[in-house]
Amino acid sequence: MTKVTHMEQHYPPSVFRKKNIGFSGSVKEETRLAEGKNIRFALDAARSIAKETKTEAILERLIALVMKNAGAEKVAVLLVENQDVWVRAFIDQRAKVKQILQNERFDNRSVDLPASIINYVLRAQQPLILEDTAKSGFFFSDPYIANRAAASVLCMPVFNKSTCAGVLYLEKAVVLGEWTENMVRVLDVLLGQAIASMENTKLYDALDFEKKQQQEVRKEVDTHKYTIKRMSAELAMTEERERRNIADDLHDSVTQNLALSVLDLKKMAMGVENEQKKRIDILQDRLNTAVHQIRSLTFQLSPKILYDFGLIAALEWLADDISEKHGIEVSIVNKLMLPERLLQLDETTNITLYRAVRELLINVCKHSGGDLAIVALWGEGNLFFISVTDNGKGLMNKELSAKRGAAGFGLASIQERIEALDGRVEIDEQRRQGFSVTINIPLDVNSRRQS
Ligand SMILES: Nc1ncnc2c1ncn2[C@@H]1O[C@H](COP(=O)(O)OP(=O)(O)OP(=O)(O)O)[C@@H](O)[C@H]1O
Ligand SMILES: [Mg+2]
Repeated sequence: MTKVTHMEQHYPPSVFRKKNIGFSGSVKEETRLAEGKNIRFALDAARSIAKETKTEAILERLIALVMKNAGAEKVAVLLVENQDVWVRAFIDQRAKVKQILQNERFDNRSVDLPASIINYVLRAQQPLILEDTAKSGFFFSDPYIANRAAASVLCMPVFNKSTCAGVLYLEKAVVLGEWTENMVRVLDVLLGQAIASMENTKLYDALDFEKKQQQEVRKEVDTHKYTIKRMSAELAMTEERERRNIADDLHDSVTQNLALSVLDLKKMAMGVENEQKKRIDILQDRLNTAVHQIRSLTFQLSPKILYDFGLIAALEWLADDISEKHGIEVSIVNKLMLPERLLQLDETTNITLYRAVRELLINVCKHSGGDLAIVALWGEGNLFFISVTDNGKGLMNKELSAKRGAAGFGLASIQERIEALDGRVEIDEQRRQGFSVTINIPLDVNSRRQS
């Protein structure tokens, strides 16, 4: 015979109360009033528990309400977690002990709580009332009960949905008839609310944790993005320096040698006549063309004018070069209200903007079908703007931004390099005619980088 059935046979039915206790059909007026008061109390109390969002606060409030409602001197909330029973709250007014949210596994040899009663309620899953432990029969063999002054005990299961999630243990000095059915009912409501609130807290905590993790991942992605941007900017500048070295070498050695050879040929031509002179002249022309070609190549490799005279001078040269080579008209419209030197753009910014405008102008030649491009420069607040607009067929594919980088490398690379300078690139996608790209660079970031 199990202990539960054994006890159910040996104790009067009033000791054991089923979880779903119903009101009887014919209740007296006072009883009804008391029930109404109890229900109001239970609802208010449950609402006040529901407001709490931290497990500790939920338990604190539950204990305070239980003590107020049941007048208990000892209260314990034990919860089943991971197949073990944990004492989550324990208050003993006589011993002046208060432990909320403690992590103590319930021990059958506990000197603070009667293991026999707690284990019984956990198994039977129904409330147990002992109005006087001195007359508790079976439970009297529990050393906790045997070694203590007589007390009244109410121990009831805590349900999470339909599963038994723990027990509430209450104890006070013997006052017969104090533990009523209504009280058990109210406590049942409070425990139900507390368990639901604690479950919610777990969900909130899990959500919070997930949010924090997402933030961490986002931060990491941002850091990687920033590193990639910085590296790509550094790579671009290394390439630029390399180009400049090659351009300098070409200028200082090859072009100079060719120029000296032209001078030598000129001298040679003075001492010879007719056929030989003609051949020397042809050689001279060829060498001059080579010098011209190498100069142009040197310029494309690295625009010396940019380093010597600044961005606007370099853009003017570029406009002429593109007009001459590709047959489109390129105008520079300078709306800057201050001289270029006061802009104080650093070398990286200058070269990046120059390369961006060059790519945009080459795009005009390749894709626009137009014959005019305008390069405009202006300032607005702390931003330096530069735009390239043409009179061509414009943006044929309205989803260019999505396609950027897939069609070609030019626009994507401009964007990457400008963003590495904390700037922005905008394509005017609403434009009805022509193609227009505007770049802006914050000037304070630029001067910070220089210092
Ligand atoms: N001025 C323009 N007018 C019309 N369409 C343009 C213009 N500039 C760019 N585009 C469109 O945008 C696309 C992307 O340009 P992007 O410079 O990125 O690549 P690309 O010029 O095709 O190749 P790459 O620059 O790598 O040599 C082009 O293929 C073209 O369809
Ligand atoms: Mg391009």
